Amino acid sequence: MTDLILSIETSCDETAAAVIQDGCRILSNVVASQAEMHAKYGGVFPEVASREHVLKIIPVIHEAMDAANVTWRDLNAIAVTHGPGLAGSLLVGVNAAKGIALGQNLPLLGTNHLEGHIYANWLDAGLPYVQPEMENVFPLVALVASGGHSSLVLMRGHGEYVELGHTIDDAAGEAFDKIARLLHLGYPGGPAIQRAAENGDASAFKLPRAHTKRPYDFSFSGLKTAVLNLTKKLGTQNLPVHDIAASAQVAIVDILVKKTILAVKEFEAKYVLLAGGVAANKSLRAEMSARASRPVIFPPPKLCVDNAAMIAAAASRHYRAGETSAWDLDVVPNLKLV
Ligand code: KG4
Ligand code: ZN
Repeated sequence: MTDLILSIETSCDETAAAVIQDGCRILSNVVASQAEMHAKYGGVFPEVASREHVLKIIPVIHEAMDAANVTWRDLNAIAVTHGPGLAGSLLVGVNAAKGIALGQNLPLLGTNHLEGHIYANWLDAGLPYVQPEMENVFPLVALVASGGHSSLVLMRGHGEYVELGHTIDDAAGEAFDKIARLLHLGYPGGPAIQRAAENGDASAFKLPRAHTKRPYDFSFSGLKTAVLNLTKKLGTQNLPVHDIAASAQVAIVDILVKKTILAVKEFEAKYVLLAGGVAANKSLRAEMSARASRPVIFPPPKLCVDNAAMIAAAASRHYRAGETSAWDLDVVPNLKLV
């Protein structure tokens, strides 16, 4: 069986569409980012985001179809992110997908954004990154860390998720974003901190690694407060931005790596899988690979951050299992993975 899926992703501030074959082969992957537009607010401004999606969605879909060199008739299904995310943003993608599916008489596949991030690891990007025998990787421990979500998940098979723990306050990406704002490094904060940290001393400041009651939960708000207090104490003049960025990055990475490794041991995982925007972080990728006793897999950076290719990768498995969505598919802003 082969399948050709047009996928749409508008959960946050990227308007994205992709055409993917068999859940892994990327024929096209178009992402129109609004990051610059939101930079002046220091984060995503929801109403601005949904209105931008309204403007961009059709041109982005056309571009994805043209770049893949396929017609509507070649498609087997339309996949779309229906949660989690911003309601107004999700609505634009879901309605566009419904319109196309109805008009072309194609099945509709409402898809979980977090499952998309995980399945980005199954996309054949044709890039030189570790691609093990991806059907024989279970059980694995997945660290799903993005701007809106951070959790540790045990996967015993495809689509089988057990949540071991999650953040009790800020998501890991949110911590990067908030600390970047304190250091006036701009938005999105993750890439900005990573860049600033390259010229910084990670041992300059000892920042807290929070203890949580449950071993696999995360907490980052104490770290954010520690950085806030540091900036107040040192003053904005001559703030050692690079050293603070490096010290904060190493603290976040250390927490993520330690908890993941603990889970790998307890559940005898064969692999570690990284997913979500934070998985693009060079230091996280390197530290996890160095410290985990198991192979660590992660998508190339551009497939870690929001894109539509990953949505088709996750949707393809549901399509093959005959699991399609009804016409009353709704957006679910707080949709969970499990
Ligand atoms: O998955 P994603 O694109 O959107 C959400 O679903 O939230 O993740 C975005 C998050 C942002 O918080 C951003 O700062 C973070 O991922 N991020 C990074 C890096 N690239 C993106 N964090 C650390 N290092 C990076 N290189
Ligand atoms: Zn995301």
